[in-house]
Amino acid sequence: MRIICNVSIVEIIGTMQGVITKEDVFGALRGVFDPELGTDIVELGMVQDVEITPAGVVTLGIALTIAECPMRSQIEDDAVRKVSALRGVTDVHIDIRAMTQKQRSGVMERARKTARDNAEPTRIDPKTRVIAVGSGKGGVGKSSVSVNLAVGISDLGYRVGLLDADIWGFSIPRMLGTSERLEANDDKVIIPVRVHGIEVVSTGLIVESEETALMWRGLMLSKALEQFLHQVDWGELDYLIIDLPPGTGDIQMALSRLLPQAEMVVVTTPQKAAQKVAIRVADMARRSYMPVVGVIENMAGFVCNHGDRYDLFGSGGGRELADSIGVPLIGAIPLDAGVVEGGDSGNPVARFAPTSAAGTALNATAQRVVELVPPVEDETCTARIARLVEALEAQPV
Ligand SMILES: Nc1ncnc2c1ncn2[C@@H]1O[C@H](COP(=O)(O)OP(=O)(O)O)[C@@H](O)[C@H]1O
Ligand SMILES: [Mg+2]
Repeated sequence: MRIICNVSIVEIIGTMQGVITKEDVFGALRGVFDPELGTDIVELGMVQDVEITPAGVVTLGIALTIAECPMRSQIEDDAVRKVSALRGVTDVHIDIRAMTQKQRSGVMERARKTARDNAEPTRIDPKTRVIAVGSGKGGVGKSSVSVNLAVGISDLGYRVGLLDADIWGFSIPRMLGTSERLEANDDKVIIPVRVHGIEVVSTGLIVESEETALMWRGLMLSKALEQFLHQVDWGELDYLIIDLPPGTGDIQMALSRLLPQAEMVVVTTPQKAAQKVAIRVADMARRSYMPVVGVIENMAGFVCNHGDRYDLFGSGGGRELADSIGVPLIGAIPLDAGVVEGGDSGNPVARFAPTSAAGTALNATAQRVVELVPPVEDETCTARIARLVEALEAQPV
């Protein structure tokens, strides 16, 4: 509950006499939270057109992010309750409306800012772009895409880290061909393993020995993500790619809490049936303020040696998903035996077979990711000013 101290004497006398001011109404509404966005509805700029009659009837508009917001009745009831409790209020009318696209992005920006301000500091450099790779289900090629994006972005000249957040089902060490163990330095800080020029951390690289054993013993594995962000010396990275476990579980929630700067790319197959699960991931990302950068369609068709194309897993699913969540389709990676071989031998196709069908597509996808989420240093002054103005405009008045 926020305490408003700049209340004038006139307002205090007014309140004593039971005359309600707009400030009173806003003050009461600061106690109404949007449970999904985690901030009060005033801060989020959802309260509009407050009117108070001399008889104490309060009418106000509440703009929800979407009209069918599942929290609608709770927000409405809370608002009525809080405002009715003000001395002098005789009746409350609430007009629920839906935000415009512009208002909605303003709210999301504010919610993200609040989340960022409240987040515990991690060892991830604030200048590092964090890209989480998510999918609705396993086996769609999320880890393969993560590894190849990491290598592909590194080949574009950027410093890249790869965090295997698939704590139970890690596959990154094999895909990069490393069996090195994570070591801790004298300050008990874990140093990532450097392989193919990228900084890698995975539970698959942990061994019960000496310092590392001391550090990990007794720690719940579910806390591993937190440890990876707080106890690993990631150094100065341009990009940190995070291979998420499939689905919309605890790790996704923890990630958005720990690293509010994280953005997500969603991997899906061309199959129509895969869209429903994938859409849930995108939805979850949005609810935890993780912007979705775009969709990557994997296993998109197979081109045989004769040049004929076979859509083994259907077609169009990636585009459909991208359109339905309003983000770009970042890339389409064909089915290519090279991906499997590269994954098994630890030599990712993006680097070791860059002219193969999948290698070409993966490198193009890496390039596109960098365009969509440009490295912080590369941002031009104009882009920075534009962002600043946008953020300022989004501030509540
Ligand atoms: N584009 C592709 N072409 C051929 N095989 C692929 C492709 N993408 C992934 N695979 C293979 O599919 C399997 C599952 O991929 P993986 O990256 O482990 O998926 P996930 O991390 O989503 O579970 C692996 O054997 C991988 O080599
Ligand atoms: Mg995986």
